[in-house]
Amino acid sequence: MKIVFDDVISTNEIGNNNIDLIVTSPPYNIDIKYNNHNDKISYEDYLAFSKNWMMRCFEWLKDDGRFCLNIPLDKNKGGQQSVGADLTRIAKEIGFKYHSTVIWNEGNISRRTAWGSWMSAAAPYVIAPVELIVILYKNSWKKTSGSKISDIKKNEFLEWTNGVWTFQGESKKRIGHPTPFPVELPKRCIKLFSFVGDTVLDPFLGSGTTLVAAAQSNRQGIGIDIDKEYCELAKQRLTNEANIFNKKLVEVQISKNKVL
Ligand SMILES: C[S@@+](CC[C@H](N)C(=O)[O-])C[C@H]1O[C@@H](n2cnc3c(N)ncnc32)[C@H](O)[C@@H]1O
Repeated sequence: MKIVFDDVISTNEIGNNNIDLIVTSPPYNIDIKYNNHNDKISYEDYLAFSKNWMMRCFEWLKDDGRFCLNIPLDKNKGGQQSVGADLTRIAKEIGFKYHSTVIWNEGNISRRTAWGSWMSAAAPYVIAPVELIVILYKNSWKKTSGSKISDIKKNEFLEWTNGVWTFQGESKKRIGHPTPFPVELPKRCIKLFSFVGDTVLDPFLGSGTTLVAAAQSNRQGIGIDIDKEYCELAKQRLTNEANIFNKKLVEVQISKNKVL
C-alpha cells in the first residue's frame, strides 16, 4: 500500500501504464471546506481542472485498465449544471471509452432544503438524491492482464451488475473527513472490475476509503492526496481497519517528495 502526499496534477510517483483500476471521487466544486483545495471555482475552471487530472489518469492506466468515476449527476447550488454529462464528455475527449453508469441511490432526502417555487410552476427545483459512478476504460474492455482470479460471490455479482446501487453514505463525523464515501462503494468496484492482486489507484484519496477496500480485498493500493492531514488519516484507517478485519499488516510508504 502506498500513500502519496502530493498534487495529482504534478506528481511523479505513478508510472505510466501501471494501474489496473482507478476508483475515485474528485472534489465536486460545491464549496466544501477542504484544508488545501479551493472547492469554489468557476464551472469553466472546474472542467479544465477535471480534464487535467483525468488526462494523468489515462496515462497511468494499463491498456485494459478501468476507471470508476464517482461524481454528482448535477449541480444545483450556484447555477444548475449537468456535471455528470460534462465530465463524461471530457473523459471521452481525452480518449477514455464509455462502458456504463451506475446510479448510486444514497437514499438521503434530508439534504433537501430547496424547493424553488413551492407548489407553483413558476420555478420549482427538481433534485435527484443520487450520485453517479461512471465506468470507463482505456482501450480494451476485456481484461487480459493480472491474476485472472475473481473473488466476487454469486449473489454479489447478480446484485451489483444491476446498475442501481442502494446503500447509505458515510458519516463525515465518524471518519473525520468532509466528504468520505462508504467502503461499500470502492469495494463493489474493486470486486467487479479487478482481479485479486491488481493495483488500484485513488488520485483523491481523502480519508483512504479506497485503500481500505483494496486492502480488505487483497489488492495493491496507491492513493494520492494534496493534504497532509488526510494522508495521516488514511494511514490511520488502513492500520486500524486492516487490523479490525484481521488482515495482513499494511505497509504504508509516504512519498519522498514531501515529508509527512
Ligand atoms: C471528495 S474527497 C475524496 C474522499 C474520499 N473518497 C474518501 O472516502 O475519504 C476529495 C479529496 O481530494 C483532495 N484533493 C483536492 N485537490 C487535489 C489535488 N490537486 N491533488 C490531490 N488531491 C487533491 C482533497 O484534499 C480531498 O481529500
